[in-house]
Amino acid sequence: MSNKGLDVRKALADRFGEELRFFRGWIEQPKAVGAIIPTSSVTARRMASVIDTSSGLPVLEAGPGTGVITKAILAHGVAPENLYAVEYSPDFVKHLRACYPGVNVVEGNAFDIRKTLADAFGDAAPAQFDSVVSGVPLLNFPVEDRVAYLDSLLDLIPDGRPVVQLTYGPKSPIPAGHGNYTVEHFDFVLRNIPPTQLWVYRRGKH
Ligand SMILES: C[S@@+](CC[C@H](N)C(=O)[O-])C[C@H]1O[C@@H](n2cnc3c(N)ncnc32)[C@H](O)[C@@H]1O
Repeated sequence: MSNKGLDVRKALADRFGEELRFFRGWIEQPKAVGAIIPTSSVTARRMASVIDTSSGLPVLEAGPGTGVITKAILAHGVAPENLYAVEYSPDFVKHLRACYPGVNVVEGNAFDIRKTLADAFGDAAPAQFDSVVSGVPLLNFPVEDRVAYLDSLLDLIPDGRPVVQLTYGPKSPIPAGHGNYTVEHFDFVLRNIPPTQLWVYRRGKH
């Protein structure tokens, strides 16, 4: 077989390997994983685009799964050691640590973010991040939990900086009017299965 043919086969194997890993995760924990196909690279790039790499602050990713968005965040210019990725599933954590050396992959619950970071890093846990990129499937949780989740993330970033969240529903998964934050529709990405809505939440002036 030609080198080109081999490359194509390797690329396909990588792609399906990732989808298989994701699908297996979905079978084991459908509520936590949320989707059955990984996020598309188009969606991942749009989400990473909110990060200000000149802020000097680290970036927090919640629910990285197979790492599609992690990859886009690194490609956006964030140094691996400045990325903190909190993932619930031990299998995804193992995979992320192998694929993204240098990234601070934390096994834990993003809904209890302060404790998760303190348990992993103690006093060395970052006190502030530039922004948060979240792929956690919020629609599977009660609205009060979603609002509490957002509040806990906004507490970790400067006023005006974004928490970007993906969702498959038509509306913002975190409704306006439940706390001190603004809700902004950021994008609708058709090139995702299923098509995805991106929402941005901020506190204070921007
Ligand atoms: C819809 S998937 C998105 C994953 C990623 N964007 C991808 O395409 O591979 C949601 C991810 O959030 C993780 N997750 C769900 N609840 C979580 C929680 N409370 N804390 C951290 N991660 C969580 C799941 O294990 C899963 O990997």
